[in-house]
Amino acid sequence: MNILEIKNLSLFFGAYQALYDVNLTLEKGVMHALAGESGCGKTLTAMSVMRLIPKAANITSGEILFHGENLLGYKESKMQELRGNKIALIPQDPMTSLNPLYTVGNQLVEAIKAHSSVTERQALRKAREVMDMVRIPEIDKKLDFYPHEFSGGMKQRIIIAMALACNAELIIADEPTTALDVTIQKQIMDLINEIKEDFGTTILLISHDLALVSNYADYISVMYAGHIVEQAASKDFFKNPIHPYSIALLNSLPSKNPALKLKTIEGAPPSIQEKIFGCKFHPRCEFFQQGICDTKEPELIEKKLRHFSACLIK
Ligand SMILES: Nc1ncnc2c1ncn2[C@@H]1O[C@H](COP(=O)(O)OP(=O)(O)OP(=O)(O)O)[C@@H](O)[C@H]1O
Ligand SMILES: [Mg+2]
Repeated sequence: MNILEIKNLSLFFGAYQALYDVNLTLEKGVMHALAGESGCGKTLTAMSVMRLIPKAANITSGEILFHGENLLGYKESKMQELRGNKIALIPQDPMTSLNPLYTVGNQLVEAIKAHSSVTERQALRKAREVMDMVRIPEIDKKLDFYPHEFSGGMKQRIIIAMALACNAELIIADEPTTALDVTIQKQIMDLINEIKEDFGTTILLISHDLALVSNYADYISVMYAGHIVEQAASKDFFKNPIHPYSIALLNSLPSKNPALKLKTIEGAPPSIQEKIFGCKFHPRCEFFQQGICDTKEPELIEKKLRHFSACLIK
């Protein structure tokens, strides 16, 4: 069963296009990673699902189906019911979604009460339960803490607890561990993965970190300059990447073999103002062929069984 289907989503800032016909399907209970360098459109895609795109942004075409219903046609009031309830967002900076003026206990209880008809006592019991699930120690004491009294990792646990408290069906985690150090990163990713396994929660994981993605995601979509350029099951993707951009990204990962030198990708991704004909990646691509790559825009096509890539050469 598909819980989320993004179909042909295009988004503009004025005359400049930031998302090009993005297609993404998430089956219930999977973790799907959206990867790619800074500025490629990962957050805009996620925020389109939440319907929290910047004021200047304009979705010009496409559908975002959640359980088959197009969220783009929802009234704002209906969207508000969905946000933090059926769909939860774990942002890169947890401070942006916690209110600094209230204790976390207070915020959890309020969130639980807002999403189900329970008494104060039942809500408090549920708040303790979810804090225990995300392994916050000394719950009694921590319920009275304000967000700033927690470390970055603990704050991220509270946000995850909030998603659990509301029984979110879909969690969108936008670089959930980027601000954290490596050991804490692993704990938070393990926790998100456990939620997926234990509750069948669907996860859209946004990350530029392919090493992290390879450890957790079931599926991956690689984005470049507003386009999805490759899409596959993780195991197929990491064993046999097809698109030159994906290959270049994987080659730029620090290797376990220190004798192998890192190969960085020359140049930088284009800004949305830059006009590039043909494939957006061609100026940086080692497989570039003049007259083909700079002329025709490649479509995402199935190159191997359920393994899609948008390249005219490979
Ligand atoms: N408010 C805005 N006004 C104009 N352009 C914007 C705005 N927000 C984003 N963009 C542009 O849209 C493109 C995609 O942005 P987005 O935030 O989705 O990238 P991202 O893949 O999430 O990058 P990062 O890894 O840095 O978070 C970028 O090129 C960015 O410059
Ligand atoms: Mg982003």
